[in-house]
Amino acid sequence: MLNILVLNGPNLNMLGKREPDIYGHLSLVEIEQLLIDQLPKGFSLTFKQSNHEGQLIDWIQEAPKDHVDIIIINPAGFTHTSIALRDAFLGIKVPFIEVHLSNTHARKEEIRKRSFLSDIALGVIMGFGPLGYTLALQAALAHITTPKLR
Ligand code: DQA
Repeated sequence: MLNILVLNGPNLNMLGKREPDIYGHLSLVEIEQLLIDQLPKGFSLTFKQSNHEGQLIDWIQEAPKDHVDIIIINPAGFTHTSIALRDAFLGIKVPFIEVHLSNTHARKEEIRKRSFLSDIALGVIMGFGPLGYTLALQAALAHITTPKLR
């Protein structure tokens, strides 16, 4: 069994209601269902959200002992602020894919153009709305099962 962990940062529990013109109309539960629907046999998917930086760090630290093969994370606002999340990823050997619903480079706030995670991520997918999560899952599956595609 290969294990995929999907982490979601602050305010993503409000998806669907929160600035839908930017973040789309699907709720986080609906996005989770999209991923479950496209998960092949032989894989497990754990989907979590927290508004708390420390909780996200605890989940990242626990990933190796939980035998997580790859992490998909939308770090939300912590993308642009959190050295602690960066350090958590540097402290584990589990690869991760960074996902954003919006294209943060096209947003009007300058601060959103900076990510403390992108340079240590396997890859970054942004700007495709909820579809980005399904693209990240495809990338994660291919990465862990088909090394020749890397
Ligand atoms: C986000 C982009 C971030 O800048 C923002 O703080 C979020 C969501 C996105 O998915 O587009 O909360 O990560």
